[in-house]
Amino acid sequence: MKSRPSLRRLALLGATGSIGRQVCDLVERYPDRFALHALVAGSDAAALEVVAGRHPEAHALLANPAAGDPDDAARAIDNVMRDPEVDLVVIAAAGSAALAPTLAALEAGKDIALATKEVLVMAGELVRERMRRHGSQIFPIDSEHSAIWQCLWGEKERAVRRLILTGSGGPFLRRPLESLASVTIAEALAHPRWKMGPKITVDSATMMNKGLEVIEAHFLFDVPYQAIEVIVHPESVVHSMVEFVDGSIKAQLGIPDMHLPIAVALAFPERLEGVAMAPDMAKLGQLSFEALDPHRYPAVALAREAGERGGTAPAVLNGANEEAVALFLQGQRRFEEIVPSVRRAVEAAPPGEALTLEAVVAADRWARRHVRTSVDGASRLRSKLPA
Ligand SMILES: NC(=O)c1ccc[n+]([C@@H]2O[C@H](COP(=O)([O-])OP(=O)(O)OC[C@H]3O[C@@H](n4cnc5c(N)ncnc54)[C@H](OP(=O)(O)O)[C@@H]3O)[C@@H](O)[C@H]2O)c1
Repeated sequence: MKSRPSLRRLALLGATGSIGRQVCDLVERYPDRFALHALVAGSDAAALEVVAGRHPEAHALLANPAAGDPDDAARAIDNVMRDPEVDLVVIAAAGSAALAPTLAALEAGKDIALATKEVLVMAGELVRERMRRHGSQIFPIDSEHSAIWQCLWGEKERAVRRLILTGSGGPFLRRPLESLASVTIAEALAHPRWKMGPKITVDSATMMNKGLEVIEAHFLFDVPYQAIEVIVHPESVVHSMVEFVDGSIKAQLGIPDMHLPIAVALAFPERLEGVAMAPDMAKLGQLSFEALDPHRYPAVALAREAGERGGTAPAVLNGANEEAVALFLQGQRRFEEIVPSVRRAVEAAPPGEALTLEAVVAADRWARRHVRTSVDGASRLRSKLPA
């Protein structure tokens, strides 16, 4: 008789976010497969209370509580990441805040289901070193990397020629380039295919998201940058592909629903019954692909450059981008200023090794400060002109 897969106990970082809530949905839908041991959010106590109310068995923690010592909160999160009761750590907190908890979990030898690509972008070398040293694994949640991962199952490393990441092109794929100057926050947050948190939605509009994913793929799959290509696929049905040395291409297809890649990561190496509807190929009729326009989406080449430069350059790219997107969402920068301000930071940054958490955090801080304090020539000129 076949043995049943055992219950997996999860610690979830970013429990109240878009990915976090979908993880909770899956735990509720598959109660014999998953249980929540701990729920961690940033500062929104009310939202955490709602999630914790549905999972009273889980410890609930805030990283930035309104009252109390933030160092105590960081220590409590560190303990949760290393808790022997936890079988799998799910990292889905927005951005760089996820780095220290991820490293703690890896040091404790935990396997990680990783949504937060920024962790690998900032500190890919460090993460890989921790994985090697402690024997932990990362199961990707990002839909593109999940697709590539699934295409690679059962394949030999030497059989892979290149990885092909697909991207929808976001809301501005067909918008006249000259009108990007007037993009509003609401327009940048209106993604045509995916419903996600605000930071990644803006990254999808600049396609910095795809640039970050190139670096993420490099570290996850140990493939050189020249062998990672990006292609625009507006329907978001083919989630990514792998080309093999014999000329075959394998692709993974699915409707644009993050429940599916999350379930693949949580249940690996099993597949769960009935997570999502498979796409109806006859109804879809046609899938289209087009080359990425480097003038419309300069962020992809910029991220690739930072990745190839290595050391702390990707951490600078990531920190500068997080800061520029936050300023845009606060109404303090225009959409078209995001990528140039990240470029200025990457170009001005001193080179450095990224082999310690301290070095990565210092590069991140430097980049954020650079973006806050440097304004491009055109903006300076505009601010002097009468409104
Ligand atoms: N959404 C998607 O479909 C999608 C797809 C692929 C990859 N991803 C990646 O997944 C990550 C999460 O994205 P999202 O869209 O789910 O973001 P989101 O909706 O903005 O949620 C972010 C979550 O992180 C929590 N958080 C903030 N600071 C924290 C801290 N210091 N410690 C612990 N938790 C903290 C937030 O809690 P508070 O609200 O309390 O601050 C919230 O629960 C991102 O890296 C994104 O690139 C997302």
